[in-house]
Amino acid sequence: MLKSFYIETFGCQMNVHDSEKVAGTLLNSGYRQVDNADDADLVLYNTCSIREKAAQKVFSRLGQFRKGRGEGKQFAVIGCVAQQEGEKIFEAAPHVNLVAGSASYSRFSELLAQLESGQRRVTGLSLDTDQTFDTEFTKRGHPFRAYITIIEGCDKHCAYCVVPFTRGPERSRTAASVLAEARRLADAGYTEIQLLGQNVNSYRDPSPAAVSFAGLLSQVAEVPGIRRVRFTTSHPRDFRREIVEAIDSHPALCDHIHLPVQSGSSSVLERMLRDYTRQEYMERIGWIRQARRPISISTDIIVGFPGETEAEFAETLSLLDEVGYDSIFSFQYSPRPNTSALRMEDAIPDEEKGRRLRVLQQHQREIQWQRNAALVGTLQEVLVEGRNTRGNRSLNRDGCDEHSCNEQWKGRTSQNMMLNFTVPASLEHAVAAGEYCNVRVSKAGPNSLVGEAV
Ligand code: 5AD
Ligand code: SF4
Repeated sequence: MLKSFYIETFGCQMNVHDSEKVAGTLLNSGYRQVDNADDADLVLYNTCSIREKAAQKVFSRLGQFRKGRGEGKQFAVIGCVAQQEGEKIFEAAPHVNLVAGSASYSRFSELLAQLESGQRRVTGLSLDTDQTFDTEFTKRGHPFRAYITIIEGCDKHCAYCVVPFTRGPERSRTAASVLAEARRLADAGYTEIQLLGQNVNSYRDPSPAAVSFAGLLSQVAEVPGIRRVRFTTSHPRDFRREIVEAIDSHPALCDHIHLPVQSGSSSVLERMLRDYTRQEYMERIGWIRQARRPISISTDIIVGFPGETEAEFAETLSLLDEVGYDSIFSFQYSPRPNTSALRMEDAIPDEEKGRRLRVLQQHQREIQWQRNAALVGTLQEVLVEGRNTRGNRSLNRDGCDEHSCNEQWKGRTSQNMMLNFTVPASLEHAVAAGEYCNVRVSKAGPNSLVGEAV
């Protein structure tokens, strides 16, 4: 019987895609994948340590297998917690057999061979690498949208962030190999590509061609068969006007930029070591707003960074108004190991962080409601994701009754908005997951749009 594996992923899209590559490598080594840890010979947790809560999850998972239930199984902790905690994981959870960070995945087959040869404790923890994890065996989890890693690691030193310690130094893939992968994906029927990196803006083709990120975007957008290209994440420091120009000149590049600001206060940004001021950030927003295309903008925000005053927090609220974000991801500051912010004084109490987060989210909700309302009446092309059968809460909040929700389809606009829509009988044959169709927006809520296919 083939050995079986189960893999569970926490954290960001980079991790999701790493798991696709690890799963592909395991399948190619003769394992079969199962969707339940109890049925697996090898259980892998691909972990995230961006905030303390995320990092704790893996220990609660491992705890479930402490007594009896884990017998006969092997356990692997991979990803960011693995890199951060290293061999300490063996002490905390003695049933773990493999601890490896993402900088070691390019030799994942080797680590697997050590595990199979009966080695009790295998580690892949070196951060000293110039390699990226490229494998032709990627087991993609989605039928029409595919991730491509273009740059791994991070050389920034944001005061709050563990990533430079968990993912190693920045290293870019050659543009030729990125393009070859994009062509293979297009041939396999994928129409949407998401280019991934902790900081895609500092991408630099290591081959003599030295293609920039904007250049790479244009080349991927020209691959026949690729209809949508997205990218994440951008660091404002390295964000170039050429990126906006590339979007303006290539229809396949989506009308959306995720530009994490973290705070609206220049003094907080300075303490965060972000390397830009509010004014410099707004200059980049200005470039995006001057584009010919209606580019939507989303961001990440941290509230309650050490020493954040009420006035500094108010500057973040005013930034939301000034930019007019289409969506935000917001977090309470969480102190992380090794980071320089750990030594900062004036921690903000948890209750106060919670209060600021609620105020921020409520403020943004009003902004989104208004921005989305302005889309009523417009025609949007969506990539159909499937039927919307969930009786979705955000939909109900957005004023659609349960019955009609069940009849709806859902899709994403180029601006990355979720659009729930009905389909008249005459068009039913044309609508299916993975197809593109035009939808007239009829209603808007803070988190999604409602419309009808035309
Ligand atoms: N605490 C809270 N949020 C954090 N992020 C990164 N590090 C921390 C931390 N220590 C947030 C940032 C980043 C997003 C992925 O997670 O906003 O952009
Ligand atoms: Fe989590 Fe950051 Fe690691 Fe992604 S890179 S898994 S967000 S810690």
